[in-house]
Amino acid sequence: MSNRGLENIQHLPKIFLSSMISEGDLVLDCTAGLGRDTLFLARLVGPRGKVYAFDIQDKAVEATKKLLQDEGLLKRVEVLQADHADLREWIKTEIKAAVFNLGFLPGSDHQTVTNAESTIEAIKGCLELLAVKGAVSITVYRGHRGGEEEAAALNVFTASLPGKVYSVLQGTHTNQKADSPYWIMIQKNRRIRDENQTAG
Ligand SMILES: C[S@@+](CC[C@H](N)C(=O)[O-])C[C@H]1O[C@@H](n2cnc3c(N)ncnc32)[C@H](O)[C@@H]1O
Repeated sequence: MSNRGLENIQHLPKIFLSSMISEGDLVLDCTAGLGRDTLFLARLVGPRGKVYAFDIQDKAVEATKKLLQDEGLLKRVEVLQADHADLREWIKTEIKAAVFNLGFLPGSDHQTVTNAESTIEAIKGCLELLAVKGAVSITVYRGHRGGEEEAAALNVFTASLPGKVYSVLQGTHTNQKADSPYWIMIQKNRRIRDENQTAG
């Protein structure tokens, strides 16, 4: 983990993910990019666990495979060149966590960026698959073209999730520029059918 502490917007989400992901878990990295989050997750799930990492760009898939290979952890990871909106076609079993790091591939020409429609579709897929006490972590960047629109749609969608089933938190640097990155964490508290039973 970065030694910059709270200067790094991902510091607290990573502490939370480290506390709830256990050896043997199945988790998703929905935006593999350079593979750094995939590596973080692969270390947490251990040799009996599995990370499925999605990215639509071949450059990202190659970079992620290389990083995991160099670290000797590629066996724990399945890197898929696929749209995360289609993740339900690939993943059929319960997951403990999913991580999204939105925006563009670092060092790229910014032509390929995440967008609200596929990101929300992917988050919906993750929420269906999520174990009770599992979590979806989303780091949102707003500085690039389309970033503000994606953030606004995500805020509306995540705020509309039923409060008994999900806990939704956000974290932001309140003393930085208005378009600085922030995180959204969604924890599934109980299954939807449990909620229906208690509501009756
Ligand atoms: C900010 S980068 C991810 C950084 C990465 N987690 C890391 O640790 O280096 C965002 C990535 O999302 C990918 N992406 C964009 N739209 C996508 C989609 N619909 N499905 C899967 N990946 C997508 C981009 O290709 C890019 O590599």
